[in-house]
Amino acid sequence: MFALRLPSPCRLSGACGTQRRRLAFRAQEVGCLEPGWLQPSTVDFACGGHSAGVYTHSHCGLIAAMLIVEQLVKHYPTRSGPLVVLDGVDLQLEGGENVAVVGPSGSGKSTLLNIIGALDRPTSGRVLIEGKEIGSLSEGELAALRNRKIGFVFQEHHLLPQCSVWENVLLPTLPLGGAGPEEKRRCWELLQRVGLAERSDHRPAELSGGERQRAAIARALINRPILLLADEPTGNLDQNTAIRVVELLLELQRDYGMMLVLVTHSGRLARKMQRILALDNGRLTPLDQSAGQSHD
Ligand SMILES: Nc1ncnc2c1ncn2[C@@H]1O[C@H](COP(=O)(O)OP(=O)(O)OP(=O)(O)O)[C@@H](O)[C@H]1O
Ligand SMILES: [Mg+2]
Repeated sequence: MFALRLPSPCRLSGACGTQRRRLAFRAQEVGCLEPGWLQPSTVDFACGGHSAGVYTHSHCGLIAAMLIVEQLVKHYPTRSGPLVVLDGVDLQLEGGENVAVVGPSGSGKSTLLNIIGALDRPTSGRVLIEGKEIGSLSEGELAALRNRKIGFVFQEHHLLPQCSVWENVLLPTLPLGGAGPEEKRRCWELLQRVGLAERSDHRPAELSGGERQRAAIARALINRPILLLADEPTGNLDQNTAIRVVELLLELQRDYGMMLVLVTHSGRLARKMQRILALDNGRLTPLDQSAGQSHD
């Protein structure tokens, strides 16, 4: 049967018109709209805003989640033969969902994030974002996807040292035509949200570690991505600052209705997420929240 699952009404106000039209159209196409079931007009009406709904369908292959990772395999060629890092990773994320990925050093967490974020290609397997298989995209389309749909936050902030916070945050808007009034408004709003409005003319060297990561978060969000990938974003911060940065990430993630994948070595931070997945021996397995304690 066909079901449109929408976890909360406010999540609707974030989402994308193309997606809801595609959903309604596809549902009709496969004959899944029957009396009493959801009608396209309802979808349109319900999703009147601009962000993420959650669509599930058990029979007809309709988009089931905003992010789908299927049987992902990654081998690195080495002098002693292929090194198998990912060996059949599956993951599904619904719009507005957050998940922690934990695992020992070298288990492949960054490799997984880089493939999901279209920075690297898998040996086999598929990644679909909003129903689109990223392996089928050209280099230009991949660059556009990375720029518009995906935000990255790394352990290192990667801010440009010669640019101010304001300029750094606006950098990702350049490939989209530069900073017009709307982008500047968003930049200002984000700087306020991350508590850096008073530091907007500072260079990265004139910020604390936590402030640099907050600037990096604002930069990751300036193009309003649907997916935020954070690879140990607090790895260089003290515990209290790390907790504040992750709480900020979660607050922004909820308010903007994004998906968030957070890689962390900290069980305490992982337990703040809705789900914890452990990467080990090339596979992802769910951990319950108390099991996450072993990763402190
Ligand atoms: N380009 C590469 N060529 C060969 N091996 C690589 C390459 N990149 C990563 N590896 C290997 O793949 C494995 C996974 O690396 P990855 O960086 O994904 O681990 P990680 O889980 O993120 O570790 P950490 O927690 O230390 O950041 C490691 O054993 C690493 O040595
Ligand atoms: Mg890593």
